[in-house]
Amino acid sequence: MGEKIAGLDVLGEDYFADPHSFHARLRERAAASEIVLPRGTRAWLVTRYEEARSALADPRFSKHWERFPEVMERNRIGGGDAPKFDESLVQHMLNMDPPHHTRLRKLVTKAFTARRVEQLRPRIQEITDRLLDEAGEKGDVDLVDALAFPLPITVICEMLDVPMDERDEFRVWSNVLVAGNGEPEQLQQAGAQMAGYLAKLVEHKRANPGDDFFSALVQADDEGDRLDPMELIAMAFLLLVAGHETTVNLIANGVYHLLRDPEQLAKLRADRSLLPGAVEEVLRFESPVNQATFRYTNEDVELGDVVIPKDSVVVVSLSGGNRDGARFPDPDRLDITRQAAGHLAFGHGIHYCLGAPLARMEGEIAIGSLLERFDLALTAEPEELRWREGTLIRGLQSLPVSLTPR
Ligand code: HEM
Repeated sequence: MGEKIAGLDVLGEDYFADPHSFHARLRERAAASEIVLPRGTRAWLVTRYEEARSALADPRFSKHWERFPEVMERNRIGGGDAPKFDESLVQHMLNMDPPHHTRLRKLVTKAFTARRVEQLRPRIQEITDRLLDEAGEKGDVDLVDALAFPLPITVICEMLDVPMDERDEFRVWSNVLVAGNGEPEQLQQAGAQMAGYLAKLVEHKRANPGDDFFSALVQADDEGDRLDPMELIAMAFLLLVAGHETTVNLIANGVYHLLRDPEQLAKLRADRSLLPGAVEEVLRFESPVNQATFRYTNEDVELGDVVIPKDSVVVVSLSGGNRDGARFPDPDRLDITRQAAGHLAFGHGIHYCLGAPLARMEGEIAIGSLLERFDLALTAEPEELRWREGTLIRGLQSLPVSLTPR
């Protein structure tokens, strides 16, 4: 498949169209295989469920931001200059090990409570209804533009109090940063603009706290310990990116696969109680975070049948693990009634997705309301649809459908 450097597979064009068969090939071979990432960095890709799950919970696989650039540099075997990100954006808890991670997670969890998430339900329904009203009037829409993208983005921007007219800029910056395949200058510039904007937002919230989630974050207090302005900027960045780049793909990937499988769709329409299970199965089947799970080894680590040397870059493929037949029988079949629990779409271990309850709620409301109100059909051939480029995220660039009120 595709291009090779030093005899290793490079993740390129054909990978974006179909990562699953690539993962399957690697999975047959070994628990983890060496590949070359698009920017020319050598990395180990973990594609089996058991090993993926154990790597995610193993402290010998570090995520700490401080050493990351050095380890990446050591493993570079080609490509252009590596971009340097604004430090204030990388120092968030997803890029930290304990004890720093433990401290930040504890503070953020105080603001991100189950109650606060549940309180968002009526607002999420309201936003969904409005978007569906508008989409229904048009009839033919790109469902990514009409629903999957604006819903989670509106929710996270409201949580962080980002004004409506500034959201478009965020979309651009966030896309550039997450796609990660732009020119280094472009990435650096987007990072600097994002950091500058967030610094102002944090300053404003500290001076004018309200009743919103971001204010709760600013005020979160653990026996006198608080998030300082730098930590708040990084946290806001993490939440905005998570809010922009993930749930959109849960919704669009879910609708797409249900439309491609009329039998599963009919089952779901006939029994609404299957909705939560269907969302879990979609998360397993087409995981929105394909493999944005970088780590590096701080010692030699035996993983299944391989030994990964110290200072290696390790990427745990969540979609690889989720399509492992040893854990999920007949893994390439969408089955909304299967036991998909235990899938790795939200990660595992100390970095398990903090936003999982919110993402599930958004996914259920969006997909549930859409199916309740409309009959819908794909208006493009599946082969014509383009998937986003970039290895981290798995999602459709657009999803053209026609909607007919039921
Ligand atoms: C972490 C997936 C939505 C906030 C993660 C991780 C995954 C993930 C896989 C762990 C990555 C790793 O271990 O390297 C997803 C998916 C989503 C989603 C598939 C949607 C379907 C959200 C939302 C938010 C959010 C909506 C918040 C608004 C976070 C945060 C972390 C995280 C803060 C870091 C947790 C930590 O380091 O302790 N997410 N996420 N996520 N996610 Fe999500």
